[in-house]
Amino acid sequence: MSDTPLLDVRNLVVDYQVRGGGFRAVDDVSFTVHKGRTLAVVGESGCGKSTIACAIVRLIKPTSGEILLDGTDIAALPERRLRPLRSRVQMVFQDPYASLDPHLRAQDIVAEPLRLRGVRSVAERRKQAAELIDRVGLPSSALDRRPPEFSGGQRQRIGIARALASSPDLLVCDEATSALDVSVQAQVLALLEDLQRDTGLTCIVISHNLGVVRQISADLVVLRAGKVVESGPTAEVLAAPTQPYTRALRRAALDPATMTGRKPRALVAPREEVPA
Ligand SMILES: Nc1ncnc2c1ncn2[C@@H]1O[C@H](COP(=O)(O)OP(=O)(O)OP(=O)(O)O)[C@@H](O)[C@H]1O
Ligand SMILES: [Mg+2]
Repeated sequence: MSDTPLLDVRNLVVDYQVRGGGFRAVDDVSFTVHKGRTLAVVGESGCGKSTIACAIVRLIKPTSGEILLDGTDIAALPERRLRPLRSRVQMVFQDPYASLDPHLRAQDIVAEPLRLRGVRSVAERRKQAAELIDRVGLPSSALDRRPPEFSGGQRQRIGIARALASSPDLLVCDEATSALDVSVQAQVLALLEDLQRDTGLTCIVISHNLGVVRQISADLVVLRAGKVVESGPTAEVLAAPTQPYTRALRRAALDPATMTGRKPRALVAPREEVPA
C-alpha cells in the first residue's frame, strides 16, 4: 500500500437545487482510498451514496470540498481540464438496464472508450474489445449482440468491460450487483476480485449488502443522511460498531437472508423525500 492515497475526498458537500432552495445530499464527507485497495460505502437508501459516486466521476459538480485524484483536485476543474482525467476514473452504474445503449453491439460499446483513448485502428479496437469481453467472462458470441439480448448479469459484465476499456486507475461500482440475483452477484463480485488481484485496480464499491462488503472491501465508510457516521478498516468497524445502523447491518449480516445477498428487511428504508 502506498502512502499517498489514490483518492482523497475532503469535506465534500453536494447540494441539489430543489423547489424552495437547496437540499444537502452530501454533508462534509471525507475519506481516502489507497491504490490497489477496495473501499466500501454503505448506508440506507437516500443517504447520498450515488451522489458521492457521481461527484467522484464528476457527473455532478460538488458544491464545495476537494476530490484529490493522485494529488490533483478535480472537484472544481472546468470540463476542458477535466477531459484528460475522465478516463482515469470509471463508473459501473447502479442500473445495468439503463446504462447501456440498447442499439449498439456489445463490441461497439466496449470499443468506444478505446477510440476515445486514441486506439485508431478499427481492427485493433475489435481485438481489444474481444479481449475485454472475454476477460469479463462472456463468450465471443456476445460480441455482436445488443444489450436487450443479454441478462442483467451479462449487461453488468459489459458495463465492467466498457469501464475497463478506459484502463482506469479507479473503478466506482454503484451497487453494481444489487439489481442482480444472488448467484450472478457472486459471479460479478468474484470477477471484481480477480480483476483487482490481476491488475491492482483500485475500487469503490457502493452497497446495501454487508455480505458484499465483507467479501471484497478492506475499508468501510458508513453514511447516514449525507454524513459519515463511521469509517475505518472493515474488520475493525464491524468488530466494534458504534452506530445503530452499523450494528443493524452487522446483525443482518448474520441473517441467512443477507448471506444470500437479499437486502435485509429492517434496513430497507423508503427513499427520503426531498423537501418541497
Ligand atoms: N437530482 C436530484 N435532485 C434533487 N434531489 C436528489 C437528486 N438526486 C438525489 N437526490 C436526493 O439526494 C439524496 C441522496 O440520493 P442518492 O441517490 O445519492 O442516495 P443513495 O444513497 O444512492 O440511495 P439508494 O441506496 O436508494 O441508491 C436523496 O434524498 C435523494 O432524494
Ligand atoms: Mg444509489
